[in-house]
Amino acid sequence: MKYPVYLQLSGTENVYAVQGPDRFWECTRMGAQTLCHDVIATTWPERQRILDMVADDGPWERISGPSFRALWNGTPCGMTSPDTVALDVREHVELADHTTFGISAKARWFVAVTSVDELRAALDWAQERSLELLVLGGGSNMLLHGDVEALVIHVHIQGVEVVSDDGRHVRVAAGAGEVWHDFVMRTLDEGWGGLENLSLIPGSVGASPMQNIGAYGVEIRDHFAWLDAVRISDGALQRFTAEQCQFGYRESLFKRAERGKWILVQVAFDLDRKSPLRMGYGAIEQELQHIPEPNRTHRDVSDAVIRIRRSKLPDPAEIGNAGSFFKNPTVAASEAERLLAAHPTMPNYPQPGGDVKLAAGWLIEQAGWKGHRRETHGVHDRQALVLVHFGGATGKEVWALAQDIMKSVKEKFGVDLEPEVNQIGGA
Ligand code: EPU
Repeated sequence: MKYPVYLQLSGTENVYAVQGPDRFWECTRMGAQTLCHDVIATTWPERQRILDMVADDGPWERISGPSFRALWNGTPCGMTSPDTVALDVREHVELADHTTFGISAKARWFVAVTSVDELRAALDWAQERSLELLVLGGGSNMLLHGDVEALVIHVHIQGVEVVSDDGRHVRVAAGAGEVWHDFVMRTLDEGWGGLENLSLIPGSVGASPMQNIGAYGVEIRDHFAWLDAVRISDGALQRFTAEQCQFGYRESLFKRAERGKWILVQVAFDLDRKSPLRMGYGAIEQELQHIPEPNRTHRDVSDAVIRIRRSKLPDPAEIGNAGSFFKNPTVAASEAERLLAAHPTMPNYPQPGGDVKLAAGWLIEQAGWKGHRRETHGVHDRQALVLVHFGGATGKEVWALAQDIMKSVKEKFGVDLEPEVNQIGGA
């Protein structure tokens, strides 16, 4: 079955748009008013009701999208009506400006989508032609190894809306296509705390839960409320809770068991006007020395994070890069002891389960790679975890450098590094 399924309850003006196996919109008439509800089934009887609705033998009749719209006059979640979907699919589109690495590669087909309905239409378009898909958000976490023989879908779904506000706590939902840093700045403008330590991370809102972005002691999961995603196979719109997302260090369900099956369209965060400031990590406290502690604000922490990031990390607008190219590796305690005996100054972070996280940047620097340059690309000179593209490199060349680094760290320390950046068309 393909979603949405539009239905009308026989003998009434009540219409329904079944969004997926667990969700439907219900629009009922109350006199001159139409009441619309986004119903998310959390229990079995509710799910059974959805099965009954689409079973074709009950009191619900299937209707067309335009008939549904004619009887319904609301627009929840910023979604457009099916009759306004106009796909502008282009051919042989240069992708250099669509990834923060800025590496030249062409998309065989390319479309930007601004709503769930457009996204579903794009999925149908690809399915009809048996095309592979590549989903692009801010393109901040991918290395393209060559031209992409697929339909590249650029998720450009925008909008920021307050879901609830009790005067202190705010739940705010943002379209997956919003630029992450702009969204963080907007929450701080409103006085909502929570995301300040995650300032200046490149990429889109939609990419943030995919890899549970984190920096300066905070991860997205600490403030995550829910996300909505569309299933590629049938267009179902589903809501995922934090628990369902199975967040881990730079990990989520969408990078593991459900990899390549969903496209994120909206993400909601729980923010707090009085959330405690987190200044324990790295140089933040030091950066804020000039402000007496009681006077410090979420904005001050954000400013400090921005200063620290600018001093260490290259700005993708100036030098192509995708942030940390590798994950910080985790090793067994015995392995960490062995390494510490040989390298007493090695940074190490014991984890709750007993394992120890190491600093990939330190390992790479000690292996002699910091500032290494190969004409068109190299290793950043202030943070060895970041590979940089000065212009004219291919993805394969950058990947060859990454492999040389992994091999050398393995030889020197016996530690396996794993890329954090997604390799498209290679590896
Ligand atoms: N270090 C070196 N040499 C280097 C880089 C780091 O010796 O070239 C040492 C530092 O001195 C420090 C330790 O390694 O003792 C950790 O360095 P840092 O605090 O800079 O953080 P990181 O572990 O290298 C992680 C994230 C960054 C995030 C920072 C700050 C990962 C893969 N990276 O880097 O995230 O900004 O912490 O929280 O977890 C990103 O994911 O793209 C990213 C930039």
